[in-house]
Amino acid sequence: MLATTAAAAASGSRRSAAAGAKAVAGWKAAGGASRCKSAVAAASSESVKTFKIYRWDPNEKDQKPYMKTYPIDRDDCGPMVLDALIKIKNEQDPTLTFRRSCREGICGSCAMNINGKNTLACLCAIEEDSAPMKIYPLPHMFVQKDLVPDMTNFYEQYKSIEPWLKTKKDKDPDVEHLQSIQDRKKLDGMYECILCACCSTSCPSYWWNADKYLGPAVLMQAYRWIDDSRDDYTKERLESLDDAFKLFRCHTIMNCTKTCPKHLNPGKAIANIKKRVHAL
Ligand code: SF4
Ligand code: F3S
Ligand code: FES
Repeated sequence: MLATTAAAAASGSRRSAAAGAKAVAGWKAAGGASRCKSAVAAASSESVKTFKIYRWDPNEKDQKPYMKTYPIDRDDCGPMVLDALIKIKNEQDPTLTFRRSCREGICGSCAMNINGKNTLACLCAIEEDSAPMKIYPLPHMFVQKDLVPDMTNFYEQYKSIEPWLKTKKDKDPDVEHLQSIQDRKKLDGMYECILCACCSTSCPSYWWNADKYLGPAVLMQAYRWIDDSRDDYTKERLESLDDAFKLFRCHTIMNCTKTCPKHLNPGKAIANIKKRVHAL
């Protein structure tokens, strides 16, 4: 599934590169930035909101990352930061690059650092005050371009916990694999995770040891399967996490829980894993 997703993404980026070049040419021919700037200048000063956005393009040799400023007329824009980013891309600068899909907090792809907090651009309202909003990619990740982080390591770590139901006896595929209402309830607060990585990239332990520490998002997903009454590999799953780096690099800093845009509690899930590991 990962390979399919990667292939789809690759073909998507080829398509969007061609479409993007066409859009840039059309945009320049139609007056481009100067037309947009005059539209913003015509807006009342209270309705203008400024965005300072991290920019970096690997194809621009010797170009260091820099912050670029974009004014937006709030009266002519949707209420969320993602609306502003889409407006900037459509009307001012087609080269601005970011991920988004669902625009309703479901896909997790628009995760970024907005005014110092990791969150989802589609769930983050544009602030009403006059201060500029600063937008960076998720912290301590390799950047592919602008606001797009490289998620390869994160997905490899997710794959490593075998995030699927594993049973020791063959089950009849035509019969439902039931669990009690109480057992199903134990998964609440974990199954809703959208793997946006806001929590992991807010964790100082993950910043310094992302190669060996699994981080809060992946650990909470590990616990989602450990705590599933239908899974027969609970002990093996716990044993595989009993490691000074994979699990015990969590020092209960709790940035993860504070920042989660879905209001989940990965810090608590990690504490539960530690308790279960100690009881082995
Ligand atoms: Fe995102 Fe929250 Fe899941 Fe972490 S726990 S990946 S912040 S949804
Ligand atoms: Fe990090 Fe959360 Fe643990 S911020 S140290 S994973 S409690
Ligand atoms: Fe899907 Fe924001 S666009 S979570």
